[in-house]
Amino acid sequence: MEVLIRPDTDSAARLTAEVIKRDLEKKPNLVIGLATGRTMEIVYGKLAEMHRKQNLDFSLARTFNLDEYIGLAPGNEGSYRYYMNQHLFNNVNLDLRNTHLPDGMAKDPSAEAVNYEKLMKEAGGIDLQLLGIGRSGHIGFNEPLSAFFSRTRVKALTPTTIQQNQGLFKNPEDMPRRAFTMGVGTILDAKKIVLLATGKEKASIIAKAVEGPVTSMISATALQLHAKTVVILDEDAASDLKEKDYYRWIFDNEPEWLDFH
Ligand code: GLP
Repeated sequence: MEVLIRPDTDSAARLTAEVIKRDLEKKPNLVIGLATGRTMEIVYGKLAEMHRKQNLDFSLARTFNLDEYIGLAPGNEGSYRYYMNQHLFNNVNLDLRNTHLPDGMAKDPSAEAVNYEKLMKEAGGIDLQLLGIGRSGHIGFNEPLSAFFSRTRVKALTPTTIQQNQGLFKNPEDMPRRAFTMGVGTILDAKKIVLLATGKEKASIIAKAVEGPVTSMISATALQLHAKTVVILDEDAASDLKEKDYYRWIFDNEPEWLDFH
């Protein structure tokens, strides 16, 4: 795991977008795992700008989102399909047929989950997985006690997550209590993972995820087992890390050794 600390939110998001850009330029049909949440909005804004100003080409890229709420249709403003259209898909030249999210309205959720795994496999697996982190330490919607070998499935959301995400719904009561999510095992299969966290409210969970003991109570700790994970933080999100001076030293002195290249 590499920890890259940037001075502020904007430069942390820019570095995240640059990692995606570099990988996409190397492999135009990159399979990208996408995340939602407030943290990612700025990253998607930067990718859209790179598309507009630097001709960053998404025409062959394929995307798979981490999760989707159960019971929300794509046109519902609270759905992650709606979020993705709004923040990324409508603003770059992605072919919508190459964008995938689990269908929150699927009649048979177990079959939908199995099919989602099949589609990822057929695409050759995720090359680059983008992650945020929830306050409960979840990645995707892998709430506490998610098995590290878990695959895409339906999870019940914790009260912490409901409280954290309810504000994104016009009527907070409309937030579903369950969601499809890639499993921890699905995420760990990605060839490369980039987790972005910004802001003081993420400092304590980031310290646990990066430097704490590996436990299924905090699914982000599973990333310590992954061979190529980059954690990009702003100073606020990094503030509780014990070894932050060491991480900074590597970035400033030996960037050529870092895995994110
Ligand atoms: C949701 C998503 C997670 C994301 C988290 C962080 O819970 N399912 O994938 O990491 O939000 O959200 P935010 O960026 O708003 O803090």
